[in-house]
Amino acid sequence: MEPVEITEAGLLLRPWRETDADAVHRACQDPDIQRWTTVPRPYLPEHARAFVTEFSTRQWESGSGAPFAVCDPATGELLGACGLITIDQTAHQASEIGYWTAPWARGRGVAVRAARAVARWSFDELELRRLLWGGARRQPRVPARRAPDRVPDRGAAPRRRPRVRRPRVGRLPATR
Ligand SMILES: CC(C)(COP(=O)(O)OP(=O)(O)OC[C@H]1O[C@@H](n2cnc3c(N)ncnc32)[C@H](O)[C@@H]1OP(=O)(O)O)[C@@H](O)C(=O)NCCC(=O)NCCS
Repeated sequence: MEPVEITEAGLLLRPWRETDADAVHRACQDPDIQRWTTVPRPYLPEHARAFVTEFSTRQWESGSGAPFAVCDPATGELLGACGLITIDQTAHQASEIGYWTAPWARGRGVAVRAARAVARWSFDELELRRLLWGGARRQPRVPARRAPDRVPDRGAAPRRRPRVRRPRVGRLPATR
């Protein structure tokens, strides 16, 4: 699958780059990301490097996933991660959506806006029929009413079409 960039609602969603590794490593030290997602613990610099290079490139190339870096379009700052995990291109045409927001970017609607953009792209461009949210795979240590399940609920209700464009050739880091 060809990687794409999505600009919507004040966010730029683009394929991961090798230069994102430091910010991803910093963000993934966050206890909430470690608790609610499947990132390795402890999260080491080599995990971040592999994620933004080999892992994400392989997902786009094989069509098995669509991982986006969520950035501030004006400054380029990394705000979070959002994307499709394990795209099922059989008759089910479904995928799970996964996301985190960096601790320094929380409380500004990044997760909602990014999830909404990915959801719209999935339905309109990929023509998926269903998006799944797996929820926390690790046991939550917070009351259920504070669980992050409000984000996908709102994210699945798109209002405006995104502007989707192909990135310039060679935007993804070479990994082989
Ligand atoms: C949950 C998370 C993605 C929210 O990111 P964010 O960009 O700050 O979220 P938004 O600003 O878009 O807020 C979305 C809504 O979720 C609510 N929310 C934010 N964090 C929440 C949490 N930990 N639990 C429950 N609700 C939460 C917000 O209050 C907001 O609702 P409101 O506008 O009605 O008040 C972020 O805290 C995070 O990365 N957590 C760790 C990773 C994670 O849980 N990922 C989801 C894996 S299933």
